[in-house]
Amino acid sequence: MSEPLEIDVITIFPGMLRGFLEESMLGRAAASGRAVLRAIDLREFTEDVHRTTDDRPYGGGPGMVMKPEPLFKAVESVKRPESRVVLMTPQGEPFNQRCAESLSRERHLIFVCGHYEGVDERVRESLVTDEISIGDYVLTNGALAATVVVDAVVRLVPGVLGGEGATEDESFSHGLLEYPQYTRPASFRGMEVPAILMSGNHGEVDKWRRKQATERTQLRRPDLITKDVQGKDNQHGCTG
Ligand code: ADE
Repeated sequence: MSEPLEIDVITIFPGMLRGFLEESMLGRAAASGRAVLRAIDLREFTEDVHRTTDDRPYGGGPGMVMKPEPLFKAVESVKRPESRVVLMTPQGEPFNQRCAESLSRERHLIFVCGHYEGVDERVRESLVTDEISIGDYVLTNGALAATVVVDAVVRLVPGVLGGEGATEDESFSHGLLEYPQYTRPASFRGMEVPAILMSGNHGEVDKWRRKQATERTQLRRPDLITKDVQGKDNQHGCTG
């Protein structure tokens, strides 16, 4: 078995993450030794009695900004030359399957979870290698966003999902949405499974699925097809 993917998530809410990291697919990935997941409490890297991680912004204005000192210390406590340091922020590059694939091939990921109005710009400038957004909306809690990314990344680590091919056919892996799926019974409340899927003709089944995937993508996410044709955007992921 190859070296595990190691992931450190730095947050002021480590307890929120632990539930996810211990349960379900993420827990199994850790138990099998294919991934090592750690939640790091940012407050451990503060030096004042109040364990302060944020402060008012220079120049005034609403909200609080995360202080640089604890973030630098926390990252430096786990950073290695090969680490990718990912800041979770709505200002980041939109997360997609390509980005998940790119991160799943790394050896060590450090997620820095923003809270409040954001992080001190010096963290962005000289500590992080990637900035990722999980969508055009603002969460109060970057740990939630990091958990989404960790889940999408760890499931791609070889061996984690059991069947090695399980992730190859799914939505986005070929730049298209997934074709419709059916299981037994063949007839349910008057709704029938398409006959072609029960024909045993694998060539025809593949053709039908490709057509369905293309039509569904054209209807629901035409932007994916445009990008695919142009050969950009969804062809790479993150900065790596
Ligand atoms: N932190 C707050 N909102 C976020 C988002 N949309 N993506 C990543 N991190 C965030």
